[in-house]
Amino acid sequence: MNEFDIAVIAGDGIGPEVTAEELKVLEAAADVYGFKLRFHPYPFGSEHYFKTGEIFPDAAFEEVKGQDAILLGAIGDPRAPVGLIEYGIIAKMRFELDLYINLRPIKVFDERLCPLKGKKAEDIDMVFIRENTEDAYVGAHGFTHKGQPNEVATQVLVYTRSGVERAVRYAFDLARTRNQKKKVTLIDKANAMRAHDLWTRVFADVAREYPDITTDHAYVDAACMWMIKNPEWFDVAVTTNMFGDILTDLGAVLQGGMGIAASANIHPGKRALFEPIHGSAPKYAGLNSASPVAAIMAGSMLLDYLGLKEAGHAIESTVIQLLRAGRIKGVGNGLHKTDEIGDMVSNELRSAVAGAKH
Ligand code: IPM
Ligand code: MG
Repeated sequence: MNEFDIAVIAGDGIGPEVTAEELKVLEAAADVYGFKLRFHPYPFGSEHYFKTGEIFPDAAFEEVKGQDAILLGAIGDPRAPVGLIEYGIIAKMRFELDLYINLRPIKVFDERLCPLKGKKAEDIDMVFIRENTEDAYVGAHGFTHKGQPNEVATQVLVYTRSGVERAVRYAFDLARTRNQKKKVTLIDKANAMRAHDLWTRVFADVAREYPDITTDHAYVDAACMWMIKNPEWFDVAVTTNMFGDILTDLGAVLQGGMGIAASANIHPGKRALFEPIHGSAPKYAGLNSASPVAAIMAGSMLLDYLGLKEAGHAIESTVIQLLRAGRIKGVGNGLHKTDEIGDMVSNELRSAVAGAKH
């Protein structure tokens, strides 16, 4: 039997609630498809930091690193210093495990969820490749004359040829396997940020090796407009760390909200971390009202990554069926309890397969 060790950092706010439903659904998939996931929970997050002063100790980090994959709920608490826990947990794993691809699919599961007038579910099916280790996120910043009227704040945007190239190459490889569009769009701001010329040149170089893939380009401001106006133009989009962060929140809303969008942080062939795109939403914490669909879909991406493709796909199609049949009446609208959705998805998974076997 296939067995896997999975580190679980449920984190802050709604993180623990949505992660519990994700694990419930993964357990159901494991039972039905005959594999085993051993979950190893870690308590890290803001609450743990307030209690112990500890963010992510080295020994635990080493342990997490040794497991087959990582699940993360959400990190962030308005009572903690801005960015401290985010950098100490999420960014630490992205950088130190060199998870250089942030894969963020944007797909409409049910037409009624999409806020755009006149667009069909099939019009919105794109995936963002967000470079995940460079850009403003390297943390090179400073203040001079701090607190003085002539204060200067700086933040350095860092792009390396190899860092850009590996993200761009991943996008082209993905476009080959995804669908008939076989298109990669580069999104940058090379007209204002001249350092992005590196992206322009690397993209052109890599594109020459993929004559079967159509290429396109959009400046980030225009991309915001095209994603709303003509989302059907997009297939695979590749972009910088920060633009990817921003554009995928916009993408999540096209899908139907932050309660649906999931992501994978990957070092191909080596290691990966799966998380919903949403944050910790502290005001909904403990209310059993947040949508667990994004976390459940992160679980589906985990199974896909582990090679359990049939099981990963079954989670996605179960969610889609429940939405289309109106049994899940939208997400994040307070109509369902968090655990009610987890129960529906896991029960449906179990009964669909039980039905098929008879
Ligand atoms: C995300 C988040 C993080 C980011 C924050 C929590 C640091 O917004 O994963 O999209 O900016 O990458
Ligand atoms: Mg974000």
